[in-house]
Amino acid sequence: MAEALRVGIAGLGTVGASVARVLRDKAAELTRQCGRDIVVSAVSARDPKRDRGVDVSAAKWFDDPVKMAQVADIDVFIELIGGDEGPARLSVKAALEAGRHVVTANKALLAKHGVALAEIAEKKGVLLNYEAAVAGGIPVIKTMREAMAGNSVNRVFGILNGTCNYILTRMEAEGISFDACLKDAQRLGYAEADPTFDIEGHDTAHKLSILTSLAFGTKIAANDIYMEGISNISQADIRAAGDLGYRIKLLGVAQRTESGIEQRVHPTMVPTASVIAQVHGVTNAVAIETDILGELLLSGPGAGGNATASAVIGDIADIAKSRPGFQHGPVFGLPAKELRPYKKAQMRSHAGGYFIRLTVHDRIGVFAAIAKRMADNDISLESIVQHAVSGEVAAQKTVILVTHETTEAAVRKAVDGITKDGHLTDKPQVIRIERAG
Ligand SMILES: NC(=O)c1ccc[n+]([C@@H]2O[C@H](COP(=O)([O-])OP(=O)(O)OC[C@H]3O[C@@H](n4cnc5c(N)ncnc54)[C@H](OP(=O)(O)O)[C@@H]3O)[C@@H](O)[C@H]2O)c1
Repeated sequence: MAEALRVGIAGLGTVGASVARVLRDKAAELTRQCGRDIVVSAVSARDPKRDRGVDVSAAKWFDDPVKMAQVADIDVFIELIGGDEGPARLSVKAALEAGRHVVTANKALLAKHGVALAEIAEKKGVLLNYEAAVAGGIPVIKTMREAMAGNSVNRVFGILNGTCNYILTRMEAEGISFDACLKDAQRLGYAEADPTFDIEGHDTAHKLSILTSLAFGTKIAANDIYMEGISNISQADIRAAGDLGYRIKLLGVAQRTESGIEQRVHPTMVPTASVIAQVHGVTNAVAIETDILGELLLSGPGAGGNATASAVIGDIADIAKSRPGFQHGPVFGLPAKELRPYKKAQMRSHAGGYFIRLTVHDRIGVFAAIAKRMADNDISLESIVQHAVSGEVAAQKTVILVTHETTEAAVRKAVDGITKDGHLTDKPQVIRIERAG
């Protein structure tokens, strides 16, 4: 049997401790599958005394993960610390420079420094594997990097943040407010004490930026993503979506267009009958549309110790099975130096259907004025309905418009015009409609 693969785990929190546990519990199975043992030779975390729920005392302890990356007797450095700078970045860089393979679950690090790190990995002839960084346990990186050779991707989109999907699912199922759902999510451990990063779309944007690079062979551009979160989604939107045959999901979408690549994260209406609309709770999903394959949808657990560990261990097993001297494939599908600059399509040119909800004064001429603003901007309407606002506010009405395909620029201009006309009693709500099969 080949020599054991020695791994060092930096970070023994939710994911790191799960990885150590699975490597212990599934040791015999992994040895059979990989043709060699996988041994945890070194570990690093902040607190050497903390009970991790798994015995790692046989491994050499390092207070400093950078030192571990440089000097430990390991073949693979597993980074499970988190953060886009500090010890995570420094230790991954040090490990690659020392010629060790790296496995990481760190989307923030890859979104910011992925291309630079890939260049080092490729120069040194080692692997930088990151399956767990996007959609947790779903093997989307491997699918895009390896299983879709020859395919040209037109669009990749997905539910990439379990916290947002959990909140939207409960808002719809139970008719409760965003704030109440968020509090519950925090109580149950599905949302952080400071939820901004999740609910405002940053986490989805990090993951999307990695998928965009894989899909279109471009450099990662995580800072150039149009982003809207879910905090202004109300019960009125959810109910109106349901009445119209749609469900609201926070999607990350990367799409090839004539003017460049759109990268956007925002609440989206998808047809209730579509497959992605059936993805509920903390579950994640990624849809990939290509010229040869058509549309593929992968769904599954996007977070949690075990699900994430599953992806990390798949990455380690790939390294264990790789043959010495074998030239490894590039980190982002194309050699890092050949990744093209990202050509951004302006959001104003985004084309699609729109849902527009307006709360207006209940007076004569308002409906006609709204319809005129739409017509003036060449927006063709699929439907326009008005309802009395329920409750005491008798002098208001809700007008709900669904447009045929139009542009973001036209919708913004029309809604600005309606706002200037002075008919609105509340902020207008605009939600993009996404085509989904
Ligand atoms: N949790 C998930 O479901 C999930 C899903 C997908 C991806 N990820 C990614 O996986 C990574 C780890 O997440 P997590 O949830 O496991 O985080 P976590 O529970 O907060 O664990 C972080 C670990 O890093 C250690 N650490 C922090 N600073 C350190 C330093 N300077 N030197 C050495 N060790 C240090 C901590 O040590 P102490 O324990 O001693 O404090 C802790 O063990 C992140 O990149 C995250 O984005 C997580």
